[in-house]
Amino acid sequence: MADWGKTHDIAIAATLRKGRRASTPIYETDLGSAYCGDSLKVLRSRPLQAHSGKVQLAFTSPPFPLNTKKSYGNLQGEEYIRWFAKFAPLLRDLVTDDGSIVIEIGNAWVPGEPVMATHVIEAFLRFLKKGGLHLCQEFIWYNPARLPSPVQWVNRERVRVKDAFTRIWWMSPTTRPKADNRKVLREYSPSMRRLIETGKYNAGPRPSEHNIGAESFKTDNSGAIPPNVGGAEAVPALDGMVTPQGFAEYLEEATNLLKAANTLSSDDYRRFCVERGAPVHPARMPATLVEFFVKFLTDAGDTVLDPFAGSNTTGAVAQALGRRWLSVEADWAYAAHSIGRFDPQVVAATCDEIVIQRRPGDQAAASSSPNAMPLFTS
Ligand SMILES: C[S@@+](CC[C@H](N)C(=O)[O-])C[C@H]1O[C@@H](n2cnc3c(N)ncnc32)[C@H](O)[C@@H]1O
Repeated sequence: MADWGKTHDIAIAATLRKGRRASTPIYETDLGSAYCGDSLKVLRSRPLQAHSGKVQLAFTSPPFPLNTKKSYGNLQGEEYIRWFAKFAPLLRDLVTDDGSIVIEIGNAWVPGEPVMATHVIEAFLRFLKKGGLHLCQEFIWYNPARLPSPVQWVNRERVRVKDAFTRIWWMSPTTRPKADNRKVLREYSPSMRRLIETGKYNAGPRPSEHNIGAESFKTDNSGAIPPNVGGAEAVPALDGMVTPQGFAEYLEEATNLLKAANTLSSDDYRRFCVERGAPVHPARMPATLVEFFVKFLTDAGDTVLDPFAGSNTTGAVAQALGRRWLSVEADWAYAAHSIGRFDPQVVAATCDEIVIQRRPGDQAAASSSPNAMPLFTS
C-alpha cells in the first residue's frame, strides 16, 4: 500500500531535462526499473539489450490505432500496422526460449461509418508473422463498465450494440511456453461446489455428444480452470478491484461471461495523481488482468516487461508478486507519476527530476530507507 505524503514527500518536475538519455531509468525499486522514452529506441539500448533472452513475459496494451487525433502514438491504418510489427522481433529476442508475449488491444471502427476497422486484427497477424511467433491462445476481456461506444451508432442511431470487449493475444516463440493453469484456478461456482459436496449429478451422454462420467465431477481440484473469456477477476485482487460477490455469482450462473470492471478500483495511484495535479492515465488496465497472466505464465524471480507501460500497472503487479520488472513509457507525466503505485519503502533510486524526501520523525521509514533517494547520473 503506497503511503506517499505520510512518510515521504515527493517532488516531480514538470518536464524531463532535454538531452537526458532515455536508457537511464527514471526510478528503480528493489525489483524493477522504469524508463521514460520511445520504446522502439529504449528496447534497443544497451541496458535493455542486457536482458535479451531473459524476459519471461512481455505483457502490454499498446497505444490504440485511433481514428481521431487524441494522444501519443496516433498512427492509423497501414502506418500503425507497420509500426506495431517492428516490435515483434524486438520482443521475441528479449523473451526467454519458453517465454510469452501477451498483448491487449481494443476494437477500432471506421470513421463515419457503423462498421469495424479490421486493422487491429491485421496488426496482430503482421506482428505474429514478423516475430515468427505462435498464437498460443486468444483471450477476450469482457468489460461491462465500458461506456457505450461508438456513441453515434449505439446511443444516437441505435443501430449497433455496445462494444464491450478487448482482444488479448498470447504469443510465444515456442508452441509450449512456460504456463500452469493450476496457478490461476478460480473459486468454484456455488453450483459446482454443491455438486462436489453432494456428489449428485446426472451422468451419461449429453446432446453435445460429451459423455459425463459418474466420477467426473466428484474430485475437488481446489478450484475451477478459468476460461479464456474474462475470468481474471476470480484471482484475488491486489488493489481492491474485487467483484462484489453477488454480481460475480449472477454473471457466472447466468451468462458465463465474467468481467474485470475498472470502475470498482480503489485506486491509490489515482489519488496520488489528483493530489499532485497530474493527469491520471485514462486507459489503465485492471490489476486483476495483469495478475492473471503474471501468475499463469511466470514464477517469482522471473522478469516481466511492459514496453507501453502507461501508469505501470504491470510493474506494480509484478512487484507485488515478487517478479522482476522493466517498464517503458514515452509520456513523462504518466511515467513519472506511476511511481505513486509503489510503496516509498521499495523505491531504491530516482532520476534528478524526481526528488523524494523522508518526513522527519518517521521511525518506520528511518530504519529502512535513506533520507533522500540516491540519484542516477545520465
Ligand atoms: C494503452 S496505454 C497503456 C496503459 C497501461 N497498461 C496502464 O495500465 O496504465 C499505452 C501507453 O503507451 C504509451 N506509448 C505510446 N507510444 C509509445 C512509444 N513509442 N514508446 C513508449 N510508450 C508509448 C502511451 O503514452 C500510453 O501511455
